[in-house]
Amino acid sequence: MSVSIPADYVPPVDLLAGRRILITGAGDGLGRAAAIGCAAHGATVILLGRTVKKLEAVYDAIEASGAPQPAIYPMHLAGASWKDYADLAGTVEREIGGLDGLVHCASHFKAFTPMSDIEPKDWVEGLQVNLSAAYALTRNLLPLLKASPDASVVFVSDRHGREVHAFDGIYGITKAAIEQMMRIWAAELGTRSSLRINSFDPGPMRSGVRLRGYPGERAESVPPPERVVPRLLWLLGADSRGVSGCAL
Ligand SMILES: NC(=O)c1ccc[n+]([C@@H]2O[C@H](COP(=O)([O-])OP(=O)(O)OC[C@H]3O[C@@H](n4cnc5c(N)ncnc54)[C@H](OP(=O)(O)O)[C@@H]3O)[C@@H](O)[C@H]2O)c1
Repeated sequence: MSVSIPADYVPPVDLLAGRRILITGAGDGLGRAAAIGCAAHGATVILLGRTVKKLEAVYDAIEASGAPQPAIYPMHLAGASWKDYADLAGTVEREIGGLDGLVHCASHFKAFTPMSDIEPKDWVEGLQVNLSAAYALTRNLLPLLKASPDASVVFVSDRHGREVHAFDGIYGITKAAIEQMMRIWAAELGTRSSLRINSFDPGPMRSGVRLRGYPGERAESVPPPERVVPRLLWLLGADSRGVSGCAL
């Protein structure tokens, strides 16, 4: 399917009214901007991340804006067990009552590294945070997402998972794997499912991953994550109904 997100998309203010959306890596960068953007468009957001202080700051910003009250779910994706993911799904069902969106923003990336120099710890954490956690979260939350009349899962990807570049290391490998996982899942769900699953490359943003990859770059030369949030909202709202299995 050849689909593109409308470049000039302006999300209606009530686009996500009544929807419950879980965002990983919600304390910083794109995850933070996405959480604030989703809440501003009516969603109840569940802020998942590993640094509680950062999550609390996002919580406070959303609460002060008058948007629906968010929830915080601290979780260290590098060390989470299968039971932790099952517990999370149970808590979301019990406390929030369901789920209509899941955005995988959390990402492990330290630096561009030659394949032969990847540290074992870096390899394992990259696989856990970027791939295994995204799989386990999606799998455990799938029953709730399937029960929603109009749910959307977004794997935040990167062109480094779609092209081959030297030194991309475990980051590039896991981003490529995410793209394939997204396609397989979408194929299994089929076109009649009310749940859609896509991946999204936000392009360069002035946030963690970029700053670690290009430390000498002039920060102002790269747009802030807020710039891409309308396109992410398109993927989460009703305007993208029927779009699934796409790398956008
Ligand atoms: N920035 C870019 O130019 C760019 C370009 C293309 C794609 N992307 C993608 O965009 C997404 C967001 O990246 P970003 O630039 O906004 O990065 P970021 O600011 O570093 O945000 C990454 C988030 O992931 C969280 N995280 C990392 N390890 C974790 C763990 N073990 N458990 C739980 N949370 C963890 C971080 O939490 P803490 O803040 O607590 O560390 C942070 O909130 C990523 O998927 C990235 O691959 C970014």
